[in-house]
Amino acid sequence: MNHFDLRSGELWCEDVRLTALAAAVGTPFYVYSSATLERHYRVFREALDAFPRLGSPRIAYAVKANSNLSVLATLGRLGAGADTVSEGEIRRALAAGIPAERVVYSGVGKTAAELAFALDAGVDQINIESEPELTLIADLARRRGRRAAVVIRVNPDVGAGGHAKISTGTRESKFGVSLAEAERLYGLAAASPDLKALGVACHIGSQITDLAPLARAFALMRQFVERLRAGGRTVDRLDLGGGLGVPYFNQPDPPTPLDFAAMVDEVVGDLDVDLAFEPGRVIAANAGILVSRVIHVHERPEGRRFLVLDAAMNDLIRPAMYDAYHDIRAVSPRTGALTPYDVVGPVCETGDTFTRDRLLPPLASGDLVAFMSAGAYGAVMSSEYNTRPLIPEVLVRGEDWAVVRPRPSYEAMLAREPPAPWLSGSVTTAT
Ligand code: LLP
Repeated sequence: MNHFDLRSGELWCEDVRLTALAAAVGTPFYVYSSATLERHYRVFREALDAFPRLGSPRIAYAVKANSNLSVLATLGRLGAGADTVSEGEIRRALAAGIPAERVVYSGVGKTAAELAFALDAGVDQINIESEPELTLIADLARRRGRRAAVVIRVNPDVGAGGHAKISTGTRESKFGVSLAEAERLYGLAAASPDLKALGVACHIGSQITDLAPLARAFALMRQFVERLRAGGRTVDRLDLGGGLGVPYFNQPDPPTPLDFAAMVDEVVGDLDVDLAFEPGRVIAANAGILVSRVIHVHERPEGRRFLVLDAAMNDLIRPAMYDAYHDIRAVSPRTGALTPYDVVGPVCETGDTFTRDRLLPPLASGDLVAFMSAGAYGAVMSSEYNTRPLIPEVLVRGEDWAVVRPRPSYEAMLAREPPAPWLSGSVTTAT
């Protein structure tokens, strides 16, 4: 459920009318609903809490899905932690008021400088993805005279996810280490005076709409914890990653957080371990949309009908990158027979096609359309390709709204590129 509803046929975000918002901030823009973000977090929390054997698992929201500071602060105030993958994301989480004790740091290529930052900030858990990383973390911790709290990320060799590019749990992928290797690394971590081996982690993919592969991976993790314990190791934490999919409207509804929690309870409920989860998409995707204006409707005499929007692949890259489906809706009521449109942006490549032959009501230049379910992996993946300014992000709460990332001016964009000294006469610098 989300808070983007039709009132008299017009699309609203909570108590804010999107046509009015478009007039105020200009298009294109992202808009997020606080009520939906909060609801999704609570639904996930309450689903886990419905199974007492699970204890009260940590929920570290995957910052990569939507890292806007106001989004992080909205979730942080509800008690969410943060799953981060770079120094920048750690800084964002801290700046949004999420304490370091709720921050998890993962990723296959954490640099020494980033790890040093994480250790100094006191993040709660660092997920180790390889042996060289283990050595590096131990080294950095030793020099600081402290022990780094770590988990070993296992690659359980279970494939899952909405697209090959977002499947992370097979042995072909760069993430984590095999079960056998994880056992060896756990031994090294447990024996190191510079590391505190907290437990183990896995994350097998994203947009997972079938619980079976997750259950398979979690069962392997369970056996692994039992094997480590049988070998005399202490294993306090089991981080089961994120990955739960959301309905993008072109597929049957995926399992709910309650279905997910019931599966978790069945597979690891009696393991007596502190559980952690890293959900991203399931919290943020349906809490945000991208609003765009139709520039032209271009009808080719020989057939195709192009809906040319002011949003492009640089603003929302998921269709170009993963062939992702986003529901597209007219923001104001439009009546008439549904007609097939190729929905495209102004960027100069054919990849800048959001969808082909999408059935939409008749639309005209100036109309507003909304890309639904764009709150996760939308704004965070945008770029300034074709020197298109990053588009604003707006957060709504009831009838209030705030621009939580403004559109930069062209002057500000150009001023970020100081000319090489030998060219300074030829480039006009912004004042
Ligand atoms: N934990 C780890 C270690 C991850 O790599 C990810 C996502 C998550 C948690 C959160 O997964 P989620 O709950 O959001 O599925 N850009 C792609 C998705 C990339 C996901 C990367 N990792 C897309 O637009 O579909």
